[in-house]
Formats: sequence, C-alpha cells, structure tokens
Amino acid sequence: MKEIIDVKVRTRKVDVSRCRTELLAVGVFSDVKGLDKTVGELDSKLDGAIERLSKLGDFKAKEGTSAIVYGNEKIGARRVLLVGLGEKKKAALDTVRKAAANAAKKAVEIRAQRLSLALHRAFGGRFDLGAVGRVTAEGTYLGSYRYDEFVTEGENGRLDSLQVELIDSDAAKIRRLDRGLGSGIIIGKAQSYARTLANRPGNVVNPAALAAAAKELARRSKNLSCTVFDEKQLAAKGMGGVLAVGSGSQNKPRFIVLKYSPGGKGTKGRPTIGLVGKAITFDSGGISIKPAAKMEEMKLDKTGGIAVLGAMKAAAELRLPINVYGIIPSAENLPSGSSYRPGDIVTTFSGKTVEVQNTDAEGRMILCDGLSYAVKQNCDIIIDIATLTGACRVALGKYMAGLMGNDEKLIKQLERASEESGEKVWRMPSGDEYAEEMKSKIADLKNIGGQWGGACTAAAFLRQFVEGKKWAHLDIAGVEIFEKATEYTAEGSSGFGVRLLATYLMNSAG
Ligand code: BES
Ligand code: MN
Ligand code: ZN
Repeated sequence: MKEIIDVKVRTRKVDVSRCRTELLAVGVFSDVKGLDKTVGELDSKLDGAIERLSKLGDFKAKEGTSAIVYGNEKIGARRVLLVGLGEKKKAALDTVRKAAANAAKKAVEIRAQRLSLALHRAFGGRFDLGAVGRVTAEGTYLGSYRYDEFVTEGENGRLDSLQVELIDSDAAKIRRLDRGLGSGIIIGKAQSYARTLANRPGNVVNPAALAAAAKELARRSKNLSCTVFDEKQLAAKGMGGVLAVGSGSQNKPRFIVLKYSPGGKGTKGRPTIGLVGKAITFDSGGISIKPAAKMEEMKLDKTGGIAVLGAMKAAAELRLPINVYGIIPSAENLPSGSSYRPGDIVTTFSGKTVEVQNTDAEGRMILCDGLSYAVKQNCDIIIDIATLTGACRVALGKYMAGLMGNDEKLIKQLERASEESGEKVWRMPSGDEYAEEMKSKIADLKNIGGQWGGACTAAAFLRQFVEGKKWAHLDIAGVEIFEKATEYTAEGSSGFGVRLLATYLMNSAG
C-alpha cells in the first residue's frame, strides 16, 4: 500500500539554535513563568520576539495550541514553532506524543519539508529518553497523516514527504532518544497503514479485498503467514455466524487468519496470544436497516479487524519473541433477498445456536466464530476488538474504549498498555446479570439483550464463546471515528487499537 505522506524520522546531534531547518519545534508549559534554557536562548537570538509574543498573550501554551515565530540570520531555523504543552504538573508521555503530532500537523499544513523537534528538552529528566523517542516518532506519524488518495481536483497539493529529526546537542541524549525511535517508527507506520485501509470505502474494501491486503502484508513480512477461508470453506467448517451475516451481499465473506511465529527458543514459556477483530466492511444494519443519517460512517465498521492487521504488522517488524494469531472474520452486512433475517436460528462454529433478533447486531455474530477459532488454535489469551455497540459510544463518548474481560491480570496489563500508548480504555462489566439477558427461549442464545447496557450485554454474549480462556474485549465504537479533525490529527479513522495492542504485545514479549 502506498503511504500517503512518506515520513522519515531520525535523530541528529546539532545545537538547537544552529539547526538549519524549515520548522523548529520547541515545547512551552502554560504554568511556567519565564522561558526555559532552550527557548530562552532562541529568544535572545531572536531579539526577544518570543517574549513579546507571550507578553501580548497571543500564545498561552495551552495543550493543543501553537504559534510560529520567524527566524533571523542569528538562528539556523526559518521558523520556530512554539508548541503548547499545558500544565507542567499534568505532563505525561502522551503530552510529548501529542506535541509531536501537533508540530507534524503544522509542518504539513505550511508545507515545511523538514521538521526539527527539540520538544523533549522542555521535560528535563522527567521521562526515560528512549520512551520519549518512541512517542515522538509515533506522534509525527499521527499528526502528519491525512487521507486524500481519491482527491483528483482542486487545491489538494500537499507534501509528498516529510523529513523529521529529533535534535539535541548532547550525543548521549541522542543515543538514548535513538533507542526508542525504531519501535516508534514501526508502530506509527502501522497505525497510518491501518487508517488508510480503514478510510477506504466499502466499494473499494470488501471482505475479499481485505483478505488480499492481509495476504500482501504477510508476503512482505518475515515470520508472518496468512490463510483465508472463503465461503465454501466457511460452510465446510460450519462457521454459521460469518456466513449468516455475509449472506445478504454479493461481496462474499472471508475469514482471515494471520499467524506470527518467530520460531526459536525465545517464545518458550510465553503464552500464545490470539487477537480477534471485527471487520464488517460496511454495516447497513441488514434487514434491521439503520437510519440513513451518518450511515456512511459504517465503512469504518471494519476497524477492529484492521487494528489487528496493524498490530500484527508491528509485531512482525518488531520481531517480538511471542506467537500471535490475528483472526479477522469479515463480511458485508446488507439487506437483500438472500440476507439473514430476524427470527433466524444460526448454528455457530462453536456448535452453540443463536436466535437472531436484530440483524444489526452482526458484529457479535461474526466475532463468536472468531473467538471459537482462537480457542481451537489453543490461544492462551484472547483479546477481541470491535466497533461493537452504539451503546458504548453513548456510555463513554469519543475519548475511551470500553474494556471488558474475565481475567483481572489481563485487564490490568491492557490498562497499562493503554497508559503507555495513550489509547484510553475504561473498564466496564459483562458478568452474569448481563449474560442472563442473552438467553433465548428457542436457541442457546439470542443476539440482543434488553433496552439498557448494550455494550455490556454484547460483551456478555462474546464471553460465552471463550470457554474458560483468558479473554478481554475492547469496544471501540466511540473512539474509532474522528468526525472532525483534532489539533493532533486528521478526521476519519483514528486507527485506535494499533498502538494499544502493539504495546500490549511488546510488554508480553519483554
Ligand atoms: N457497528 C455497529 C455499532 C456502531 C454504532 C459502531 C455507531 C460505531 C458507531 C453495530 O453493528 C451495531 O449496529 N450495533 C447495534 C446493536 C443493537 C442492534 C443491539 C447498536 O449499537 O445499535
Ligand atoms: Mn450493526
Ligand atoms: Zn456493526
């Protein structure tokens, strides 16, 4: 897949004020009086221009804001970008990531081809510089990303490439920043890859196209293999859930299995992890059709599956010493004469039967087969990720994904990965009360619960298919879609889950 903007990130040992560059980014806290050493030195060479700007109150250094000061002959940079970091006491690693994203977004906006980042200097010794290198690299991918591959007309002309460098005059610091750079680049690229695949519409990415993308990924990556089951194989295996959901569309369903196994002794004693992602390439609701408003957003109903693809890409490139399955059931949910219908009873891959009461609750119908497959492959830990319920979006809004599960340790590990990756999660219940609502009178289960707690009943349904394995579920319905661009990144798919899952895998391998 063509990368939309080719971003290159490296480090360079150079004095901040001497650094020749199009755009030099430095960080400023909102609650620190006066300028720190880095900014102060620039300011004196710029004859107090930065000081004057902040005195006028034009730049208050709030998080998500920035201001440009033009260079002169006494400094190397043509422009200095002051990036707001917010309050010092609230600063976290994610502050660095967001600041880098903010700067990269600005660079693309003003078409600066070279961006030099000295952001880390504002934080002093507060964070491990390897981690700072990693999140800075991630941030530059996040911020420079845009999706315009189908725009052929008008004032589109944006940058094709962006050269980013993390700069410092201290060689030891550069070496430490460098330590995290490689993983940051891999994860940042994997997330951009996921976003582009996700942003492609339903007429471009259908289940077969997604399977082809997975095959292509496996072909390019070492230790990654890909098997795809088509309709006939789905029928032979008895994957009734995926088949039922896919039955209404001319674009037939697929079941995609990626396997990452690095071999060697390193993986010994470490659990095999199964990632299961929902990939509905378009969700119209089927016979229980959705209202027209915003239905186009449902091209993003494949993003759980795509987050799994992105995480597998990262795992392979990071050469993690663990075995990981990426399991991606994929279908298009459309109404037609061959669609599955409310009232149907479907026999899933597990053998359990499900009464369909709403064809729009299709995610769980395909995920249950994915979970059963992960169980059959003997995964010790299973994590599923899905744009599963509007209810989760109502409950948590656009900032946090719902996190459910049956294993305290796994949940804690995901919370830690969330903290580190900046992709936020919030714990929600999915226990017996909710499971009770999913019982059917005429089958083992039904596919919707009562009126309330839809995110929890959906998770309680999935729980029925993990057979005592350690399991966690991420409902990303609220966090996947950026309706509007933010200070840090473009609208469309957020790529949520790539950083979180890749970080979880790194921690599991470490
Ligand atoms: N893909 C949707 C959930 C969704 C909604 C994702 C909004 C992103 C934004 C899912 O398949 C769905 O339609 N869920 C139904 C379930 C209901 C019928 C029990 C929902 O949430 O309304
Ligand atoms: Mn649906
Ligand atoms: Zn859906």
